[in-house]
Amino acid sequence: MIILEDTKENIAKGADIIRKGGLVAFPTETVYGLGADAFNPSAVAGIFEAKQRPFFDPLIVHIADITDIERLTSGIDSRASRLIERFWPGPLTVVLPKKDTVPDIVTSGLDTVAVRMPRHETALSLIREAGTPIAAPSANRFSCLSPTTSRHVMEQLGNAVDMILDGGQCTVGIESTIIKITPAGIHLLRPGGIATEGIEECAGEKIITDKTEGKPEAPGQLDYHYSPVKPVIITDDPPLDDERGGFLFFRKPVSDYPAERTFILSEKGDLREAAANLFSHLHALDTLNISRIYAQNVPEHGLGLGIMDRLKKASMKFKNS
Ligand code: TXA
Ligand code: MG
Repeated sequence: MIILEDTKENIAKGADIIRKGGLVAFPTETVYGLGADAFNPSAVAGIFEAKQRPFFDPLIVHIADITDIERLTSGIDSRASRLIERFWPGPLTVVLPKKDTVPDIVTSGLDTVAVRMPRHETALSLIREAGTPIAAPSANRFSCLSPTTSRHVMEQLGNAVDMILDGGQCTVGIESTIIKITPAGIHLLRPGGIATEGIEECAGEKIITDKTEGKPEAPGQLDYHYSPVKPVIITDDPPLDDERGGFLFFRKPVSDYPAERTFILSEKGDLREAAANLFSHLHALDTLNISRIYAQNVPEHGLGLGIMDRLKKASMKFKNS
């Protein structure tokens, strides 16, 4: 069995695999990551191979100590420092100018590198013990649902990784918020586990969400990311009588939908709880004998922005096919 509990010994084994150029899936507070030594280009190539991910989609580099950042970037401006101080460790990824020593395969040839410090003891210990920053995308097959348990990783990538460290269910449940700071301001490249309102409050300025303004590259932000196999339809009024339908509600619905095909993100309408349940409920719906998934809208503030982003992208695959 390649799934191992995240004990001290197993983390040490995982670190050894990373140092030798292997692939280790590990828990973070957002989703499970598929990690390799960020400074070993052929190890990083293994990530793309395992995920069947196109090379134009750059990776996030994970660090455990703030001093690690000097190995990756040539300069952090004061706005970035303030956000880093406030939100790390945590689900905020910052795109920074990259040092030449960061391999191009990590950044898809961009002159920037995306960096984050996860808020998860296992991830931090793994990085420290490996003695190198770890490049890691979410540990799913390309464009499929992100994993929030070790079992999800096993199902999608089981044969392609050297080890899966099991740290239970991810607490945040959606990927990190990605920002890039340019002279024009703070750009939101992907909504996620840190609410944009919190970033704006800390930075003392509005985040730019318009993708065209200043054109920051977010090559991985394809419309059909985060898709279950089943078509997703976003609606506030899902047909109760669709016997081939599965139902994903934000809050407890007023009518009685069939219990075995109905999942609720948060009975009391709590966005944090909803984010933590999003991918696991979608995984569960995907394995049922149904033909489509009806998903209710989630309020688009706080973590709701990231949840709706994932749901809209999941529904795009259906629209485009
Ligand atoms: O929570 C997370 O962020 C998880 C955990 C494992 O840390 N990771 C994750 O990685 O979601 P991934 O590869 O699934 O998504 C990373 C996104 C990609 O869509 C890519 O476009 C963007 O980050 N990205 C990476 N480097 C970038 C760069 N230099 N400029 C702009 N976007 C970048
Ligand atoms: Mg991903």
